Amino acid sequence: MQGVLGCRGCAAEFRIKDGVPVLVGGNVDRLKTETAARFAEEWTRWTDLRPYYEKQFLGWVAPFTREDFVGQVVFEGGCGKGRHAELVARFGAKDIVSVDLGASVFVAFENTRHLPNAHIVLGDLTLPPVKPVFDLAFSVGVLHHMPRPEIGASSMAAVVRDGGRVVYWVYGLENNEWITRFVDPLRRSITSKIPYRALRALSAVPAALMWAAIKLVYRPGPDGKGPARLPYGQYLSSMRGFPFDELELIVFDQLVTPVAYYLPKAEVERWFAGPGFEDVQVRWHNQMSWTATARVRREAAAPGGAREGVTGPEAAAGPEAAAAPEIPGPGRSPAASRTDRDPGLVGDA
Ligand SMILES: C[S@@+](CC[C@H](N)C(=O)[O-])C[C@H]1O[C@@H](n2cnc3c(N)ncnc32)[C@H](O)[C@@H]1O
Repeated sequence: MQGVLGCRGCAAEFRIKDGVPVLVGGNVDRLKTETAARFAEEWTRWTDLRPYYEKQFLGWVAPFTREDFVGQVVFEGGCGKGRHAELVARFGAKDIVSVDLGASVFVAFENTRHLPNAHIVLGDLTLPPVKPVFDLAFSVGVLHHMPRPEIGASSMAAVVRDGGRVVYWVYGLENNEWITRFVDPLRRSITSKIPYRALRALSAVPAALMWAAIKLVYRPGPDGKGPARLPYGQYLSSMRGFPFDELELIVFDQLVTPVAYYLPKAEVERWFAGPGFEDVQVRWHNQMSWTATARVRREAAAPGGAREGVTGPEAAAGPEAAAAPEIPGPGRSPAASRTDRDPGLVGDA
C-alpha cells in the first residue's frame, strides 16, 4: 500500500510506504536513529502478539484501565511491533496514532491493519506534526531510551488537549543500581554493538537462568503476589507463564540498545513540575520502574513552540521537513553520535 498523505492546512505531503506514512525528515539525531534501528532488530524477529501482553500492558499503565481508553483519541510514542496499539484499538479507542522511529512500524502495521481505528506512523515522537488534539498520550518503555528523556515526556504532553492525560512507564533507578554498575558498561561497550545473531545467542544464557529461577523459586502465592523476601519477587513471578523466547526477548531488549537511562523518582517528578500539569502520580511498579500519570492543563502552560530543554505540554512539537527520510531498520544503523548526552542522568548514552 503506497501513496501520499497530504495536510490540507499547510499543504505538506508525506510519503506512505507499505501502509505507513513516513513523517520523519533527514534531520533526526543519529543516536535516536541508531537506537530505533537496534530495536527494529528485536521487533522484526519477535513479531507476533501474545495473550499475556494485555495483562502486562495494564500493569504498566495502571492506575489506567482498559475503560480509560474507550472512545478516546490516543497518541502512542514508540510503538515497536504495535502490541499496545493493537490492544488499545481493541479496547475501543476512537482512534490511536502510534509513532515509532524504526522499521518496526511495518510489523506494527501488519499487526494492526485489520483495526480501522489503529494508525501506525513512522516518525520521531519529539516532532509529531500534529496539533494538541489527543485525549490521551502514552508511552511504554521508550522515554528512557531517548538521549533526553525529559524532551520525550514534554513532546508527548504537547500533543494532548487541555484536560487530556498522559501516562508513561520508564525504568527506575531505585533497586536497579546494580544494572547501572555492572550491566550497563557491558551494554554500552559490547552488546549494543554486536550483530543481532550474536546478541540473541548471548541473551539465551541469562534467559535460561531467569527461566530456572522463575520455575523453581518464584512461585506466586495464593494471593497471586510474588515472594516479597526475594529480589524482584513480584516482577519475576509475574513472568511465570511466559514461554522461554519471551525471556530471551526481555534480556535482548535490555542489552540491544545504545541508550538506556535508569531514572530516579525525583527526575520523573521533575517532568511534571510546571504549571501545565495536575493530578500527577508517580507509582513504583514492581519495585523497579515508574509509571507516571498526569492531566495536562494547557492554559496554565507557557506558550511557545519547539524548544529543547523546556519541560511542559508546550515544550515541543511542530512540523519537520519531509525530505530524505532514513528508515532505521535491521542492518541500517548509522554510527552513534553521543553529543547530546544529559550528564545529569544515570545510565547512558
Ligand atoms: C523497548 S521498545 C518499546 C516498544 C513498545 N512501546 C513496546 O513496549 O512494545 C522502544 C521503542 O521506542 C522506539 N523509539 C525510540 N526513540 C524514539 C523516538 N524518538 N521516536 C519514536 N520512537 C522511538 C524504538 O524504535 C523502539 O521501538
